[in-house]
Amino acid sequence: MLADLSGRIAMVTGGGQGLGLGIVERMAEQGADIVIADINDHNASDAKDLVAKIGRNAYSVHMDVTDKSSIKDAVEGALSRVDKIDILVNNAGVAGAKGSTGTSFRDIDWEFTWKVNVKGLADVTEAILPVMRERKYGKIINISSVAAKAAKYITAYYATSKMSVIAYTQALAREFASENINVNAIAPGRIWTAFHQDWMDEREKKGDGLVKGKDKYDVFMSQLKEVIPMGRPQTPSDIGALAAFLASEDASNITGQTIQCDGGQVMS
Ligand SMILES: NC(=O)c1ccc[n+]([C@@H]2O[C@H](COP(=O)([O-])OP(=O)(O)OC[C@H]3O[C@@H](n4cnc5c(N)ncnc54)[C@H](O)[C@@H]3O)[C@@H](O)[C@H]2O)c1
Repeated sequence: MLADLSGRIAMVTGGGQGLGLGIVERMAEQGADIVIADINDHNASDAKDLVAKIGRNAYSVHMDVTDKSSIKDAVEGALSRVDKIDILVNNAGVAGAKGSTGTSFRDIDWEFTWKVNVKGLADVTEAILPVMRERKYGKIINISSVAAKAAKYITAYYATSKMSVIAYTQALAREFASENINVNAIAPGRIWTAFHQDWMDEREKKGDGLVKGKDKYDVFMSQLKEVIPMGRPQTPSDIGALAAFLASEDASNITGQTIQCDGGQVMS
């Protein structure tokens, strides 16, 4: 089987919904047991049930990636139930603080986005790395975004955070290559998740003409068609399939890469 993950244990941050849930589902289908680490316990618990239905072991831990003590408790909690973490998917991410409407000038948006998307991602990685280094085996997959390289309709603070994820991925890949730890990133295009829906809701509340009185999915689709050559959205399942491949031995000689999954928006 391509992307066979039998016998592997994966931790997915933000695994309770959206892309994270797509990654959880596909990795379980490929044979992995899953630790769902999310700030939203309700969604994490539902994700756990989904994995159980697929027939794999699932665990959920409460984790706020912006809080080092929460990360420590979550990792300790996970390791009291599983004896290793083979795969870490750093997926939890935001596009601004609450109330963000798409301008690039609020300090709170810069600070909160950095805290979750970059520092939080690095702190979770730091907490898991010792487990991987001890066994000389690990696959780390960081979720960047098409926004890193093509920022149309995207705020500067979000694009900056996602480019930083790419830089972090490359630096870490070099640092731990000799210890058999692969570090790669995925840059998804546009997926219709709460991420977009919440952002449009905020804009609507502020009376923004972009969304006011319009069907939000139609707005999402018309923006997408302007920038994505294939003219269709990506799906959580697309991202799950790519993450499963990168986490498998089929990708054992791929490290330090960022793979676009964006219908051709960025070609390089
Ligand atoms: N949706 C898209 O079009 C798109 C495109 C490119 C990249 N991305 C990236 O993909 C990732 C997932 O996006 P999504 O669309 O599924 O978003 P989403 O808002 O639907 O889900 C985010 C998940 O992360 C969790 N989370 C948020 N803050 C957290 C924190 N502090 N600690 C732990 N968990 C936290 C949430 O509870 C949720 O389960 C993000 O990194 C996002 O930047 C999304």
